[in-house]
Order: sequence, then structure tokens, then C-alpha cells
Amino acid sequence: MCSARTIDSPVWHPFTQHAVMGEVPRIVRAEGAWLEGDDGCRYLDAISSWWVTTHGHGHPRIKAAIREQVDKLDQVIFAGLTHEPAEAVARGLVRLAPAGIAHVFFSDSGSTAVEVGLKMALGYWRNRGESRTRILALEHAYHGDTAATMSVGARGVFNTAYEPLLFEVGRIPFPSAGEEQATYEVLEASCRGGDIAALIVEPLILGAGGMLMYAAAALAEMARICRRHRVLLIADEVMTGWGRTGTLFACEQAGLAPDIMCVAKGLTGGSLPLAATLATPEIFDAHYSTDRTRTFFHSSSYTANPIACAAARANIEIWETEPVRERVEALCEMQRGWIAKFQGDTRFQDVRQLGTITALDVVARDAGYLAGVGPLLYDAFMARGVLLRPLGNTIYVMPPYCIDADQLATIYNAIVDVVSGLD
Ligand SMILES: Cc1ncc(COP(=O)(O)O)c(C=O)c1O
Repeated sequence: MCSARTIDSPVWHPFTQHAVMGEVPRIVRAEGAWLEGDDGCRYLDAISSWWVTTHGHGHPRIKAAIREQVDKLDQVIFAGLTHEPAEAVARGLVRLAPAGIAHVFFSDSGSTAVEVGLKMALGYWRNRGESRTRILALEHAYHGDTAATMSVGARGVFNTAYEPLLFEVGRIPFPSAGEEQATYEVLEASCRGGDIAALIVEPLILGAGGMLMYAAAALAEMARICRRHRVLLIADEVMTGWGRTGTLFACEQAGLAPDIMCVAKGLTGGSLPLAATLATPEIFDAHYSTDRTRTFFHSSSYTANPIACAAARANIEIWETEPVRERVEALCEMQRGWIAKFQGDTRFQDVRQLGTITALDVVARDAGYLAGVGPLLYDAFMARGVLLRPLGNTIYVMPPYCIDADQLATIYNAIVDVVSGLD
């Protein structure tokens, strides 16, 4: 049993209610799938440190790339100047992205990548002189915590207090299995209005909304409807990108060619913050003009930080030269084996898998993000040395691809143990 200890600290942690979570372990080291605390306790990172760590913590090539870059160029303004790590990452992303992507705009987080995507869509229509200003988004969506990304995200406990900051969007029903027709009909009707700039989607799986999975055919049909009505499609691959769904990008499974695509999290293998918004030539060209009012007006101080770009370049090289796809497939297979054991277990509902991700809902008195069982589960998993951070009563397992069979068994045995203890 690992014991967490109270730390006297001025730090205000993200998505953390300090009044009910007083004890915070202090992590001093990470390697592979392991995190290690300053008291020697080790935790299996079953959620890839908020879905960022893809290959595993401390991949030697990424560490070496960071070290090498620190000695060459630490930071430089990216407006009007460029550098090789950024150029290499941009070329790599265009190589790896779905067909049609030709331009790469850097930022620092998933939220900023989505903000940039929304601004690109609105700028595209304005610069073309067409009045399309509304955005469509899926029910239960999550796209980040900045004002615009909260606006396109589902309304609820995450953002009720910030409602005055948010703009209205058209909401499309989630395409649950067997209910897809309702999604198509609402999407079609919304698009017919002629004022829609873009539809933003998390392809194949809605993450923070509860690991809700939907069919590739539904994604492909939504894309066809958008295309028919000249509505831009923004694919938010912030969580799904870099192998999580079994393919490098989830869009591939639907044969999708989005107009705009957002990547972050695993872009640096999960080592440093970096994000990119990818766009087609049409989006770029609408901003390309001697008329300077058509400039794409977005920046942040650390845009394309060279050290983060060096880490991303190493990550892309890893994808292009190491058997990462085989590792992903092996993990998918192991996950399939484990999730099969939970089918029919009455303590769980909606036992599901997409690629390397599994999720299962604990049958509990209440559901949703604030379900009382959530903090109980978290504490019990941590006490067993497993970092799982349920979304309310939804337990999900999203490990780094280096995880081995024994480590995965430890995670699932902890789930069985802890949930049995709830009875
Ligand atoms: C689909 C999706 N989009 C955007 C974000 C926001 O990313 P970040 O936390 O890096 O701002 C997340 C974060 O989990 C996400 O899952």
C-alpha cells in the first residue's frame, strides 16, 4: 500500500477540489509506464498522464533530442523567423496527416490548437466575403478549457460558472449506435440554414465527455453532409491522435480528409507542451493576400518553441522508424483480452473499447462527472499503486504503448479488487 502525504503548498492544482483532496503525492521520477514518488512509492500510469504519454515516459530518443536542442537554440520569436526543428515537424505532420493537409500552425496546448482551428474557420469565411459565423458541435463534446473551447464543449458542471464568457453553438446529437439517423437529420437541417462556418468533432470517441465511442461510418456520413453544404470540418485529434484509437489518427478509420485538424498531447510523445493546427491550402489561401487585414491574427509567446519542436521531431522519427504501429496493435490485442473478461459482469455497464482505450461504467447510485464513487475509486487505485482517474463512475484505461502484460494485469486486477470492495 502506498501512502500519500499532505503537502503544505501554495499550488492550486487543475480540476482538483482541494477541500476533498488534501493529500497529493510528489512525483520525482518517471520511466516507461511508472511514476515514482519522493517516498519511493511507485504508480502505474494507466492514463498516460492525462493522455499525453504515448511511447512511455523518458523515451531515450526524445530525451536526447531535448538535451541536444537546449545547447543550440532555446527560444526565438516565431513571427518573421523560423528554425529547423519547426520546419521538420511541419513537414513531418504534412507527411503523416490525412490527404489534403498542407499547412501547419503551431501553438502550445490542445485548447489553443482548437481555438486556432475555430478562428481559422471564421477567418476563412470572412476573408471570402461569405457570412457564415455559426459553429456546430456534438452533444457531450469536450474541446478544452479556454473560453471558445468551452463554448463548443458540452454545457454542464465544467463551465456553468463561466457561462457569460461563452458563445452559442448549434448542438448535434451524439451518434450513439443505432441512433445515428437523428444525428444526420439535425446536422443536415442545421447546415441547410447556410450560416454554418464549421462542424467540430472529436473523431470516433468523446474523451472527457465519458469515453463515448461511435462508429467510423457515422463520422464519414457527418463529413459527407458537411461537404454537401460547404461546411468546414474541424477534426479535434488532441486526444485521439498518435495511435490512441489503433491508427495514427482516428480520421483514417473513416477515410476522412478534414479541412482543419488539431493535434497536441502525443505530438511530443508527451514530453513537452506543443500543439499544431493543420489546414488545407483552401484555408491558408483565404488568408494569403497583400491586404494585411486578412492576416491570420493569432500568436502566443512560445509559438513553436525549438526545444518542444525538437521533441516533436524525435517523436515523428520514432513513428516513422520504430515499430510503433506493431506496439499499438499488440496493446489493442491485450486490451481486447481484458475487456472481454468484463462483458456480462453486472457490476459494470457499457464495457467498451476503441483501439488502445478501454472504458467501463461502474454501476453506482449516481452517474456523471460528480458521481460520488469517482473520488473513492481514485483513492483506492492510488493506494494500490495505480494511477486511474475515473470520469465520475466511468473507469477508463489509456496506458502508454510500452506497457507490458503484467503491468496491464496489475491495472485490471486493481479495478476488480476496488470495485468488489464497493459492494
Ligand atoms: C479532444 C480534446 N480537445 C482538446 C483538449 C484540450 O487539450 P489541453 O488540455 O492540452 O488544452 C483535450 C484535453 O483533454 C481533449 O481531450
